[in-house]
Amino acid sequence: MIGIHNGFEQVRLKLQAELDARKTQAERNRLGQFATPTALALDILNYAATLIPDGEKIRLLDPAVGTGSFFSAFQQVFSEKKISGAVGFEIDPHYGEPASLLWRDSDFTIKLADFTTQDPDGQFNLLICNPPYVRHHHLQNEDKVRLQARTAQVSGMKLSGLAGLYCHFLGLSHPWLADGGVAGWLIPSEFMDVNYGKAIKHYLQEGRERGVHEGYLCSHRAPWYSQENRPSAPIVCTYIGRSNTKSGRPFRFILNNSSATVANVYLAMYPKPQLAKAIEQDASILRQAWAMLNRITPEQLMGEGRVYGGGLRKLEPGELANVDASEIAALIPEFKQVLSGQQLALFGG
Ligand SMILES: C[S@@+](CC[C@H](N)C(=O)[O-])C[C@H]1O[C@@H](n2cnc3c(N)ncnc32)[C@H](O)[C@@H]1O
Repeated sequence: MIGIHNGFEQVRLKLQAELDARKTQAERNRLGQFATPTALALDILNYAATLIPDGEKIRLLDPAVGTGSFFSAFQQVFSEKKISGAVGFEIDPHYGEPASLLWRDSDFTIKLADFTTQDPDGQFNLLICNPPYVRHHHLQNEDKVRLQARTAQVSGMKLSGLAGLYCHFLGLSHPWLADGGVAGWLIPSEFMDVNYGKAIKHYLQEGRERGVHEGYLCSHRAPWYSQENRPSAPIVCTYIGRSNTKSGRPFRFILNNSSATVANVYLAMYPKPQLAKAIEQDASILRQAWAMLNRITPEQLMGEGRVYGGGLRKLEPGELANVDASEIAALIPEFKQVLSGQQLALFGG
């Protein structure tokens, strides 16, 4: 049974307050025991609901569950038929034992264990966590070494000895998420390392002093240092190059298998709807299209681009779109008949 009556959150809050009152501030600091307010937990879960595809059942993980403020918001935001379960870890029996009792009639499980020592199962498509904010100088040396090694092993993140426990929670959670899973972390800005905040401020100040904020791109953005939020492009093109090199190819097309978004040093090429549809039906079409792009002769590409001093060539997006791409168009079933004159406008920037 998941559906617990509406007053359940009131009962949980009362339990939380009682348990908090039985600990000193110093004790709570030691394990980062500060509960998430109900309204904030609901906001986070409501936002998560907008990110999860329709029709997908949700399995929630909270690596630092406390009495379960996120469990409670989870069952309020999602209908019973959307929920496939929830698991939470809690190291401290003071919170974990009463919380397990509180949730015993639900499909949610609280495991009394140290999350950082658990073997991941990779079955969760939603992870929400308010991790314990324990500064590095409160971590035992052997724990630090163990955490650093384990975090690097499971996530590839090499954290410095100055990283707090919550940074390790972030890295260690990585293998618990299924592909395409969504993770939400509550890391209030006042919790961030003061020196790291300071370093960012200094970096931005230096940018201003050098006049970076007056450059073309930055002066058109608000704030000037904001980054574009665009999806990664499956193919990118190096659009500036020299023709007088050994390869004789000033421009190259790169198949982007990562989810990295390119900065403005590449042209980002996104398949337009017909090509995107064809790729959706047959993923091999993307690789074939990429191979074909690289077969376009330098002469064809250079015919469209501009030449600067010293053999430097440049290709603007509009010029790239003028290059003949009949071969690629022939990959699209509905275009099979149109074998000539189809241009690279099959991709948009
Ligand atoms: C910031 S509180 C969040 C509690 C709850 N999720 C909430 O949002 O109200 C962090 C919780 O993590 C627990 N905790 C600390 N270290 C832990 C560990 N290594 N493994 C599992 N839980 C841990 C603490 O006891 C505390 O209850």
